[in-house]
Amino acid sequence: MIDTMQKRQSIRTYDTKNISESDFTKIKEYIKKDENFKGPFGYQGRVELVQVTNYVTDKGIKLGTYGFIKNQKGYLVGLAENHKDSLLDFAYCFQKLVLYLTDLEIGTCWMGGTFNRNSFEQEISIQKGEFIPCITPIGYPNEKQRVFDKVARMVVKADNKKAWDKLFYDTDFTAPLTKEKAGELEIPIEMVRLGPSASNKQPWRLVLSEDRKVVHFYIEHTPNYSSKLGYDMQLLDIGIAMCQFDIACQELRMDGEWFKEEPVMLLPNENVEYMVSWKTR
Ligand SMILES: Cc1cc2nc3c(=O)[nH]c(=O)nc-3n(C[C@H](O)[C@H](O)[C@H](O)COP(=O)(O)O)c2cc1C
Repeated sequence: MIDTMQKRQSIRTYDTKNISESDFTKIKEYIKKDENFKGPFGYQGRVELVQVTNYVTDKGIKLGTYGFIKNQKGYLVGLAENHKDSLLDFAYCFQKLVLYLTDLEIGTCWMGGTFNRNSFEQEISIQKGEFIPCITPIGYPNEKQRVFDKVARMVVKADNKKAWDKLFYDTDFTAPLTKEKAGELEIPIEMVRLGPSASNKQPWRLVLSEDRKVVHFYIEHTPNYSSKLGYDMQLLDIGIAMCQFDIACQELRMDGEWFKEEPVMLLPNENVEYMVSWKTR
């Protein structure tokens, strides 16, 4: 999975080739299992598959992605409750799904903004208390990345991942964390850095405790980022970071658990907010 996290990138242009029956079966099996969409805080989300042929669903609905996406063979549509912990949980699970698909060599692109929510809401039966935090198109990646993909990546500076000293801190926010000082947590922390984030804002900030046993996760909000959409999209980025971190720890056989207890610490600015902590067991 560490390899998978290293090679994943958002795909916006897909191959014209259909997704194989066996891959579709695997996807259907995966999303059918409730436990795959129950996150660390215990909230249950779910995902529905919508297949499309020539951009139109079985119901005849044309799902709008504003020309951002080409040749997709379907969508995975996420559904969750709209509050902080359920969004963290949902994003944690959706990123796990993204990595599962990456492993099957199926391309994905987290989308929270550039799709028409109304058309998706018509397609899916949404239950009380649910909304669509994000979707991903699916399909095999097109080898020859369309010019548009390159431009889209340039606009959001997708290849511009922030350096360690802008994201990770040692003991408190005054000292940046170096890879050497991160010790055995270097790889899990690096996986946070490689994760996708809305508009590639990379809002996660991590503080490693002095005894090297606890990692505190903070968010640096981009003011008014998604206020028009009626939910805090950047919370999804934190759930993604938790997922990347956790999966790397599991692969490296480092046992740990999530908890919430905000440490006493001076925050660098008013946009920074405590989210969650992880400690070794
Ligand atoms: C929560 C979330 C929402 C996103 N929404 C969109 C979107 O609406 N449209 C889009 O083209 N990309 C969207 N992205 C993809 C990001 O632009 C992309 O992850 C980022 O530029 C980093 O590139 P990478 O995924 O290739 O590492 C979203 C990503 C996340 C995590």
